[in-house]
Amino acid sequence: MADLTTNFLGIKSPNPFWLASAPPTDKEYNVRRAFEAGWGGVVWKTLGSEGPPVVNVNGPRYGAIYGADRRLLGLNNIELITDRPLQTNLDEIKRVKADYPDRAMIVSIMVPCEEQAWKDILPRVQETGADGIELNFGCPHGMSERGMGAAVGQVPEYIEMVTRWCKQYYDKPVIVKLTPNITDIRKPAAAAMRGGADAVSLINTINSITSVNLDTMSPEPSIDGKGSHGGYCGPAVKPIALSMVSEIARHPDTHGLPISGIGGVTTWRDAAEYISLGCGNVQVCTAAMTYGFKIVQEMISGLSQWMDEKGYTSVEQVVGRAVPNVTDWQYLNLNYVAKAKISQDDCIKCGRCYAACEDTSHQAIAMSADRTFTVIDEECVACNLCVDVCPVENCITMEAMEPGQVDPRTGKVVQKDYANWTTHPNNPGAVAAE
Ligand SMILES: Cc1cc2nc3c(=O)[nH]c(=O)nc-3n(C[C@H](O)[C@H](O)[C@H](O)COP(=O)(O)O)c2cc1C
Repeated sequence: MADLTTNFLGIKSPNPFWLASAPPTDKEYNVRRAFEAGWGGVVWKTLGSEGPPVVNVNGPRYGAIYGADRRLLGLNNIELITDRPLQTNLDEIKRVKADYPDRAMIVSIMVPCEEQAWKDILPRVQETGADGIELNFGCPHGMSERGMGAAVGQVPEYIEMVTRWCKQYYDKPVIVKLTPNITDIRKPAAAAMRGGADAVSLINTINSITSVNLDTMSPEPSIDGKGSHGGYCGPAVKPIALSMVSEIARHPDTHGLPISGIGGVTTWRDAAEYISLGCGNVQVCTAAMTYGFKIVQEMISGLSQWMDEKGYTSVEQVVGRAVPNVTDWQYLNLNYVAKAKISQDDCIKCGRCYAACEDTSHQAIAMSADRTFTVIDEECVACNLCVDVCPVENCITMEAMEPGQVDPRTGKVVQKDYANWTTHPNNPGAVAAE
């Protein structure tokens, strides 16, 4: 059996699945139940300082985007950091950590961008015995208007400065949680590194308005007729997060910086993808909020089974495996040629591939009188749109042409050695296939 134990920054946990800082980790009751269900660790819901009280809205604080089967794909929230008293949270953290020494307990913090505020709270957090802290520089709403959260996370100099304070006043690992509401994620990650961060975690939520009520003309969730942008998360954000994670993992300035991957993790496969792109573990929020704590059991068994099948004996062996295959566009092999293939046995003759290709792509699918759909190799550029719109999984596949075959579209022989082929229209040194 594959060993799922992870050692992230010296913090051991029985598996790489941590709950992200959010309602599932808001209180002792939740976290105890989460640990009983099998979660490897938690990042406690963000604590603030003992300044002005945090008051949440008393109307709907979430909005959702659904798939056609009403499966929740994206979740939007306008919730703030914890609205429970600081000392209550600290007492609970201490009790739970003492009872679950084998689980990771990270405390998320967001206090004003002043040295004294961090100097005040860090010894109190240290006293709980928690394993580390996560700096919430990401919350896009409510707190950023008060100069915290994303307001700090969008200014690399502030990230560096606050991280440095934390390393000065706190002895255990410091994880900097990054906001995706920024143009180049490598900049805040590098700033965290300069400040001495032990790791970064990403992503926090993405600025969003999920919908507008067309009767009241109010964005939703609507509080007494008005709405505000919130933070978007769930399966819909995973591609954005994966890309940001990979940028940090492969950039020379941040390469090697430990990463905790967050955003849309719902299955073991999502987790394996994050890990392969360089994450030492993953954090989960929306999936737990949608399906409950026990979903972690599926994640554990799925990851473990996949690792056994692939011959991986530890999570460490998977970390970063896909990073060398993330490249810039100009290094993609333009001599690689694939063609779509439609399985007539699986085709349900819905015609979606034909409509998409005929109207918006390359007119590379023919429809016969009896609605048999076939690919015209001479026209197919392997764009994948037919695969993407086909409702039957694996009915249409992309088949790579064999080296040496003639591409009917270009009349050229497919290059023998794909691996050594680099060509780019803007690269004058590129070699052309003949
Ligand atoms: C209702 C809600 C509250 C959240 N509160 C916090 C928070 O207090 N601190 C924080 O760092 N992130 C917070 N998050 C963001 C999550 O920790 C996580 O970064 C984000 O939801 C992406 O993960 P997911 O796609 O698995 O949900 C919150 C998310 C939700 C949905």
